[in-house]
Amino acid sequence: HTRVIDARDINKAQEQIAQAGRILAGGGLVAFPTETVYGLGANALNGPAVEKIFNAKGRPSDNPLIVHVDRADKIRELAQNIPPEAWCLAKHFWPGPLTLVLPKQEIVPREVSGGLKTVAVRIPDHPVALALLKTAGVPVAAPSANLSGRPSPTTAGHVLDDLDGRIDAVVDGGPCGVGVESTVLSIENGQPVVLRPGGVTPEQITQVLGKVCAVAAWQEQSGDAPPSPGLKYTHYAPQAPMYLLLGKPEAVAEKMQAMRDEFWAQSQKVGLLLSRELSNRVTADAVEVLGERDRPVELAANLYSALRRLDETDCDVILAEGYNDEGMGFALMNRMAKAAGPRVLCLE
Ligand code: TXA
Ligand code: MG
Repeated sequence: HTRVIDARDINKAQEQIAQAGRILAGGGLVAFPTETVYGLGANALNGPAVEKIFNAKGRPSDNPLIVHVDRADKIRELAQNIPPEAWCLAKHFWPGPLTLVLPKQEIVPREVSGGLKTVAVRIPDHPVALALLKTAGVPVAAPSANLSGRPSPTTAGHVLDDLDGRIDAVVDGGPCGVGVESTVLSIENGQPVVLRPGGVTPEQITQVLGKVCAVAAWQEQSGDAPPSPGLKYTHYAPQAPMYLLLGKPEAVAEKMQAMRDEFWAQSQKVGLLLSRELSNRVTADAVEVLGERDRPVELAANLYSALRRLDETDCDVILAEGYNDEGMGFALMNRMAKAAGPRVLCLE
């Protein structure tokens, strides 16, 4: 079974965190909190240990993992030809929700890089993660600690819901603060390109580097290889089909009521995913309030747990309010759009 290590008070958990570090160093699987979401860690330099991550999650083996370290200079062991832009970003944003894709060193096993010539690295901004990485003494490869296709876990309970019995231990550090995954950034030829929006925005990167940070636009239908393998897999899709309603709050409220009534007329159960403001105006069979409409940081932090709760209801359909995509809203809306798939309605 999976051991649960309570590290919500880090000062009382030093010895147990060290034990979890030894499990990692010895080739075991340990889930741990980061500032973004919980990760499922294995020794990144041990190919067979990393392979166990893919089995536990049911993850396609060509989808590469992020390697976590506790000090920036340790990326030299993993990456080569590190451009000055990478050091500059590391200095500004690490520890923090920014992952850098860099040319890999020989030592990084194929299981980590999914056969690519690059490796993704970051320093997580969480005291428990940093203490664990320090005691493990090895770089730790960790995808989000969910079953493939489920929302990323933001509590140790979510990890157990998905992976109990499939991994050696989970370190409970309480709920994650950011709630959506890190920004994945490539820097080929000095050009920063966001491959996955996350906790650090393209505007912040542009500002720090003094050159425009692009966002990869990749169309599944194009037939091209995606810039990041993760893009081609369906992610974060709740069990019930989700409709994402974009537009002025007035229009969204009216459309939501109208759609709810239509679904009710067909005897369907309706779940809502909305702001506190809208929850005062619309109700249905299940309601998940993410927070205040103009607080994207709060909305993002609550998204995945709300989606998990909606999955536990017997709703046949989910109606979700869309938000402004500035700041953290950019990553939030990216994840909500993925959850909705083609069911996005733009209202006048
Ligand atoms: O916040 C996070 O990033 C969390 C925590 C645990 O650190 N981790 C996470 O890992 O979200 P995962 O495996 O769920 O997502 C990693 C993403 C995938 O979309 C993957 O395709 C991409 O990063 N990625 C990893 N290595 C890459 C590489 N060498 N080139 C391009 N994309 C890469
Ligand atoms: Mg993931």
